[in-house]
Amino acid sequence: MKQHSEQELLKIQNILEYYKDSFLPLDQQTLITCLKEIQSEFNYIPMESYPGIIELFNTSPQIIKSIIHRIPSLIEEGGPHLLLMCSGERCKEKGAYQFIQDVEEYLGCKVGGISKDGLFELKTQSCLRRCALGKNLNIDTTPYTEMNFEKLKPIIDTIRKNK
Ligand code: FES
Repeated sequence: MKQHSEQELLKIQNILEYYKDSFLPLDQQTLITCLKEIQSEFNYIPMESYPGIIELFNTSPQIIKSIIHRIPSLIEEGGPHLLLMCSGERCKEKGAYQFIQDVEEYLGCKVGGISKDGLFELKTQSCLRRCALGKNLNIDTTPYTEMNFEKLKPIIDTIRKNK
């Protein structure tokens, strides 16, 4: 678990304070919004934010983790990088099906699984809402457009090198 700086912890605290003082219901939908807001600061959900979230939303680490696993755009601290590829019609017209197969073969796992090296989780989504710029994919929160396997391979290799 990463030890965050005081300033980073303060950011988490400020976000939680906002939800505490707001008139929003402290239900699962608000919890998801809160998680997304925390992630926008860190690019993942820090484990150190869990105690405050648990207290505020009267929830548990298991529920937070299950929400993170259920929502493709949420990223767990220390978890594999989410490689989310578009499988929508417009991207399929541009060869998304073959692209997805090439990525599966390169990472040694199928969509829904985790790569052999444990660094990537492969998922698809039926549209990433940038259809004109397909083929599209996201790695964690970073969008990539007009992709093909030749462009993606060095990006994967760089992530592997920097692990
Ligand atoms: S179909 Fe791929 S972004 Fe819409």
